[in-house]
Amino acid sequence: MIIGSVSENKEIEKRIAITPEIAKKYINLGFEVQLSFNYGKHLGFEEKEYNELGVKFINDDKKLIENADIIIQMSLLDENRNHFLKSNQIFIGVLSPYDNKNKLDELVKKKINLFSLELLPRITRAQSMDILSSQANLAGYKAVIESFSIFEKAIPMMMTAAGTIPAAKVLVVGAGVAGLQAIATAKRMGAIVFATDVRMASKEQVESLGGKFLTVEGSENLETEGGYAKETSEEFKKKQEELLSETLKKIDIVICTALIPGKKAPLIIKEDMLKNMQPGSVIYDLAAVQGGNVQFTETDKIVEKNGVKIIGERNILNKLPTSSSSLYSKNVFNFVSNLYDKKNKKININLEDEIIAKTIIR
Ligand code: NAI
Repeated sequence: MIIGSVSENKEIEKRIAITPEIAKKYINLGFEVQLSFNYGKHLGFEEKEYNELGVKFINDDKKLIENADIIIQMSLLDENRNHFLKSNQIFIGVLSPYDNKNKLDELVKKKINLFSLELLPRITRAQSMDILSSQANLAGYKAVIESFSIFEKAIPMMMTAAGTIPAAKVLVVGAGVAGLQAIATAKRMGAIVFATDVRMASKEQVESLGGKFLTVEGSENLETEGGYAKETSEEFKKKQEELLSETLKKIDIVICTALIPGKKAPLIIKEDMLKNMQPGSVIYDLAAVQGGNVQFTETDKIVEKNGVKIIGERNILNKLPTSSSSLYSKNVFNFVSNLYDKKNKKININLEDEIIAKTIIR
């Protein structure tokens, strides 16, 4: 069986789905691996390195896609290449099913077996495949690094002969995977960290990392059975707004990560609240692509409002493409291993397996 992956459009996606380390694992499992020319060159993975492992390079994406039994990408293929897919092929990636419904419906009609990895259930067995966690963890880390580098004051408290510099105060909104890593990173660099979330389970996690959890007064626990956040009531929003408006007066840097799967990101920081912040403060809105947690977020721009810089990037992982590719390709390998029946040497789409049933698009 052939596993193929074509180069992504590097203007918008620098991550790759098959690193040399993982190509070797597929080959050891009995697959043949075929890639586009210069597939990982921008990350320092030369063709020679892949070739030595037995990977073949194909200089024609149409041929590469048509040849493959399984195609592994970061996301859906662009229009120019999508129509090369054939029935019975398997296509694995982060397919954004809520945004790409029509495109995915067409591929399903063509009988392509689509697997969208952001739909993985958050169960123990799927942890090694969990692309949301592996990528969000790196995004949380990088959002802190990016905001700290733009912030024009020092982060840790420094007591010097020339005077004392106070520690920077960071607020993390949304304490899921990205938020928790943001807290840990900011703490390690010496910041004083506050965090808030609608899921009460996150309180203990925030505190275990040394953060101070801000509980919205009288809030019920807004967690679904799957562990995700629910949309909040108007009453909750008002209370959260009051709490955050007050808190923001003393905050230097805000990292926003609040998301609700399949929905637009909740708007949490509004114009009035921004007026409470000190000029020179920085907000990194990791929810930018899903609409943003901040009223003025624009993707791939730094917007300045009342002296506060608001950063929102389409894909922060393009700034950490090697680490994120390494984890993503391992996650996908674990997913493919679960699809592969090693005894009979064939792919088995067993819909009784929760991991398979939840990720397949029908
Ligand atoms: P996410 O990326 O969907 O959302 C980020 C955070 O924003 C969440 O903590 C969410 O509660 C919070 N949020 C949403 N609306 C908000 C609002 N209006 N105000 C404040 N905060 C808001 O979440 P992520 O990181 O994917 O985690 C989702 C769940 O999955 C969590 O319960 C997490 O513990 C769980 N998880 C389980 C894993 C497992 O393997 N068992 C692995 C990773 C995560």
